[in-house]
Amino acid sequence: NNTFSRLFAGQKIIALQRVDSTNNYLKNLLSKSKPLTEGTVIMAEEQFDGRGQFNNKWLSEPGKNLTFSLLLYPSFISPNSQFLLNIAVSIAINDVLTGIIGQECKIKWPNDIIFGNNKLGGVLIENILSGKQWKYAVIGIGINVNQTSFSESIKNVTSLKKITGASYPLNNLLAELCAAIETRYRELRDNQCAQHYGRYVSNLYRLNEPHKFITGESEVIGKITGVDQGGRLLVKVGDDIHSYGLKEISYVQEP
Ligand code: BTN
Repeated sequence: NNTFSRLFAGQKIIALQRVDSTNNYLKNLLSKSKPLTEGTVIMAEEQFDGRGQFNNKWLSEPGKNLTFSLLLYPSFISPNSQFLLNIAVSIAINDVLTGIIGQECKIKWPNDIIFGNNKLGGVLIENILSGKQWKYAVIGIGINVNQTSFSESIKNVTSLKKITGASYPLNNLLAELCAAIETRYRELRDNQCAQHYGRYVSNLYRLNEPHKFITGESEVIGKITGVDQGGRLLVKVGDDIHSYGLKEISYVQEP
């Protein structure tokens, strides 16, 4: 039916030339109680203070890549299950990029998109709740698309163009990503998401392979086995399975 299949994600796009961060811009609008419909997208040609996870910066050559934020009102997700949103978004992006490249991309927990050992995209989800009540979620997405040279100081990074040699129109890619995210989001909302967790886990970078991690002060070698309900990473070390939160573990990068 028509109402159901109508696309809402990316129907309204606010395109900016230059902004600090599209996530900030969207949160700012909302904090001024500006009514915005679900699916509104803020995209920018250039961010001068693009943000990544763990207070990292997100650097992107102006005009070459996708940097955008998508507004969602996921009030049907219980506060304890917020990671379901990360899962839905990352499998959607991973599928689109895998489709374009024709070879499998991986999801580096919690939601980086990796090709080979190099980062192709990143997601910064900011869930804003007051108590147990959802206000909104800002899904910030950066994908390296047509940029081919990266600063020496940024290691293990790639782009679609570096991988395939082709250039991609940003608006088409944006539309494709919005449609894929919307599909997964609707599945989540309609309880049709039984396969999301399995898709996410089976696409995890380094799943079931021995890998070196830093946890707290020490280095451990372990194998990722999945994530738990709260989105903590499950790593098998020896015979034990440990779970780690966001700031408790990092990967030792492949040479
Ligand atoms: C990460 O890899 O740590 C996440 C990167 C997320 C970058 C995107 S670009 C659009 C949106 N606005 C931001 O400031 N960050 C996200």
